[in-house]
Amino acid sequence: MGRIGIIGGTALADLAGVAPAAPPAVVETRYGPTSGPLVHGAYAGQDVVFLMRHGAGHKIAPHAINYRANIAALAAAGCEWVIAIAAVGGIAAEATPGRIVIPDQIIDYSWARKHTFYDDPATDGLDHIDFTEPYDGTLRRRLSDSAAGRGLDAMEGGVHGITQGPRLETAAEIDRMDRDGCHIVGMTGMPEAALAREAGLAYGCCAVVVNKAAGRTGGLAIHAEIEATLAAAMADIERLLQAVVPT
Ligand code: HPA
Repeated sequence: MGRIGIIGGTALADLAGVAPAAPPAVVETRYGPTSGPLVHGAYAGQDVVFLMRHGAGHKIAPHAINYRANIAALAAAGCEWVIAIAAVGGIAAEATPGRIVIPDQIIDYSWARKHTFYDDPATDGLDHIDFTEPYDGTLRRRLSDSAAGRGLDAMEGGVHGITQGPRLETAAEIDRMDRDGCHIVGMTGMPEAALAREAGLAYGCCAVVVNKAAGRTGGLAIHAEIEATLAAAMADIERLLQAVVPT
């Protein structure tokens, strides 16, 4: 496997196991700076580049993330694969808090984000990328296999709905997403996945359900649920990652 970019989110704020090969540094791209420093190093014996999507100290809101800079910098760093870690809400009954989901489809409800590298056909060219399968099939299988190999009860496949945030959804919005076929809801999956495809990177997502989506909470405050579940799920994510990046 070539070099792997790992984008950590609310889930996986850092990758403790990475031995940095050089001082981590924010990268300035033609789209602006990356969210945070790129950490080049070895993880489970594999060459990885780790990046925090929300920046150091989780200071960048989902709609304000410079997705173009992040993907462009990972591509320029020689990554061929990108594993995106994301905390999500569970819409489908089987997307229970604490469970890892390897989604295979996307519905994009986000808006007004800088979502393409092809802004100006005169200078950037133009390609209508095929996005029928938004996640790379090989990487999805590797993620699923490593989850199974580690004895993790991951949900294979599922539709990842991406909302604009930063607010959480209304109960009616979640009902609509459910009718649309969404199994999980997050705020950062797009345009990240599409930009990765435009950049020629094989992109997969490892989502961890940290709460039941709005209106499905049985009255439990979402924030309290997120905190408790996140802490428990992090160990599972790291175990999965260690198996997906074998020596
Ligand atoms: N909705 C949107 N994004 C999220 C949620 C949610 O319920 N939980 C974690 N990220």
